[in-house]
Amino acid sequence: MRMRKKNYQEVVLATSKYIVNEPSKLAGQWKAALGSGELHVEIGSGKGDYWRLMAQQYPQAAWVGIEKNVNVASVALKKASEVDLTNAKFIVWDANLIQEWFMPGEIDVLHLNFSDPWPKKAHVKRRLTHHHFVEKYYQLLSDQGRVIMKSDNRELFEFSLVVMGQQWFVLEEVFVDFRSSTHDEDVISEYEQRFMDLGQPIYRAVWRKR
Ligand SMILES: C[S@@+](CC[C@H](N)C(=O)[O-])C[C@H]1O[C@@H](n2cnc3c(N)ncnc32)[C@H](O)[C@@H]1O
Repeated sequence: MRMRKKNYQEVVLATSKYIVNEPSKLAGQWKAALGSGELHVEIGSGKGDYWRLMAQQYPQAAWVGIEKNVNVASVALKKASEVDLTNAKFIVWDANLIQEWFMPGEIDVLHLNFSDPWPKKAHVKRRLTHHHFVEKYYQLLSDQGRVIMKSDNRELFEFSLVVMGQQWFVLEEVFVDFRSSTHDEDVISEYEQRFMDLGQPIYRAVWRKR
């Protein structure tokens, strides 16, 4: 279902202290700008609960959210305006351009939470674990950098396991029912809560750059 434009959208997009309108100007400087030695980037942050709450839970790390849908991004920014984070920024753009915003080796952890599955063959290239994206992640990640993915979608998860394995990443951890045990170290995202409420298992994988 398409989300309707919120009446606060334009104000929030124009005034949020979190939004970065020219992210390429921070390339190579995100850690310094956010006062941290460890940079986490989430692609497809949606309404931003994971990004915001992880930034609160791990204030010593820097957190950058990326979301291409202006309507949901404005919800993320509105929610973030209710807290005062100095270690978080948000980019409202398509992550296709991620190589323009970060320097090679700059990102320590990339988070993919409930990425769109794009089940039709014609749309497979849009998956955030398609090799076109994964090649970019490999360049942007630091030595030993990680990609952490959670999904409800078995087909996308299996596809991602195959692609990541082909693209110089080593699988470090895999869960086929992540929330069957307690994981206070990891925030539950909006979509994750929906699938948990439906009783669906949550898949999770962690890959490390070789
Ligand atoms: C299914 S939602 C999941 C939202 C959130 N991560 C969660 O777990 O609740 C996927 C989000 O990824 C965003 N997205 C998909 N492809 C993207 C891209 N190439 N760049 C930035 N955002 C993207 C969509 O707009 C959507 O908001």
